[in-house]
Amino acid sequence: MSRVVVIAGATSGIGRAAAREFAGRGDRLVLAARSPETLAEVRRECRDAGAEVRDVPTDVTEPGALDALAATALAEFGRIDVWVHTAAVMAYGRFEDVPAEVFDQVVRTDLLAAAGAARVALRHFKQAGGGTLILTGSVLGHVTAPYMSGYVASKWGLQGLTRALQQEARELPGVNICLVNPGSVDTPVYQQAANYLGRVGRPPLPITSAERVARAIAHCVDRPRREVSVGRANVVMRVGFTVLPGVYDVLVGPLMRLAGLSHRPVEPHDGVVFTPNPAGEAVSGGWLPDLSGLARSVGGFAASRGGRAARSLGGSALAGGTRAAKAVGDSATAVSAALLRRDG
Ligand SMILES: NC(=O)c1ccc[n+]([C@@H]2O[C@H](COP(=O)([O-])OP(=O)(O)OC[C@H]3O[C@@H](n4cnc5c(N)ncnc54)[C@H](OP(=O)(O)O)[C@@H]3O)[C@@H](O)[C@H]2O)c1
Repeated sequence: MSRVVVIAGATSGIGRAAAREFAGRGDRLVLAARSPETLAEVRRECRDAGAEVRDVPTDVTEPGALDALAATALAEFGRIDVWVHTAAVMAYGRFEDVPAEVFDQVVRTDLLAAAGAARVALRHFKQAGGGTLILTGSVLGHVTAPYMSGYVASKWGLQGLTRALQQEARELPGVNICLVNPGSVDTPVYQQAANYLGRVGRPPLPITSAERVARAIAHCVDRPRREVSVGRANVVMRVGFTVLPGVYDVLVGPLMRLAGLSHRPVEPHDGVVFTPNPAGEAVSGGWLPDLSGLARSVGGFAASRGGRAARSLGGSALAGGTRAAKAVGDSATAVSAALLRRDG
């Protein structure tokens, strides 16, 4: 049966991938984020996939905005079955260098607005007799990293809040609360972040695709779970943080500077913390190689070189063999170039 799914944070990264995922499953969607132009773009993407969609420009930190979002969903579709909250912002910088108003807005967006969404969704689910709330945490809700204090504080808060809500929800049959905790994901959040550190951030390896996290989110609706971790390094980080805290604290700063920051310099700025940047919104942040593009370029190379090799078959077999070997070499170069295409 077609479900009604509200997604807050639907214009970029994981939320946008989730919108596409639910659209592909035939669900009806209510999409929210601040940027109206990108929301319209995502609405078109989801409609092209066959979904019925409404988009509601929403700043989740504005008083009353989440109530208004729920009211629109109910007015349009008469029900809400799933509420997915992925809206978030980040700020890089040493704690004392990040302006207080930026720190506060990160916490307002990443923790307080998630709590606001939970309040609106759970009140509705309680009345309706069921529903699924999916919140997006992070491995940084279990471990810590320097230079992201507002984000880390929010994710730890969200971890505790979700557990408490899950305990309360035991008294509400049919109501499920899931926390999806990704590790590094290929989304634009790193480039869109506020920055007071002088170097643009990036996701440390290993990096997961936003589509993979979106599938985990959709799977929670079919098979609700308290917590879902997405990312191969998450468990290693958690074990290191818990079992060897002293070693973890010595290593995490250098590792963060090496793997979590690019070499690209940047002037201090507040990124999308207060206002959206539609030009920077997409599912991917460009941190993973474009494998379909790669396949196309390798296929193109092979086809063109293959055609030439066939034409030259009248010539010497040796010359053809040499060209074929060169074609393989060129293709390998194209593959390496695409795989090495990384920022910083
Ligand atoms: N990317 C990662 O490596 C990673 C890792 C672990 C956890 N996560 C979590 O996954 C979730 C999604 O992150 P992402 O990487 O997909 O980020 P993203 O690509 O930057 O997308 C963030 C979304 O939140 C929306 N948003 C931001 N502030 C908002 C506000 N005040 N009101 C309404 N919408 C707002 C943005 O749209 P507008 O700017 O148009 O409002 C955008 O749609 C977040 O909870 C993040 O913490 C991400």
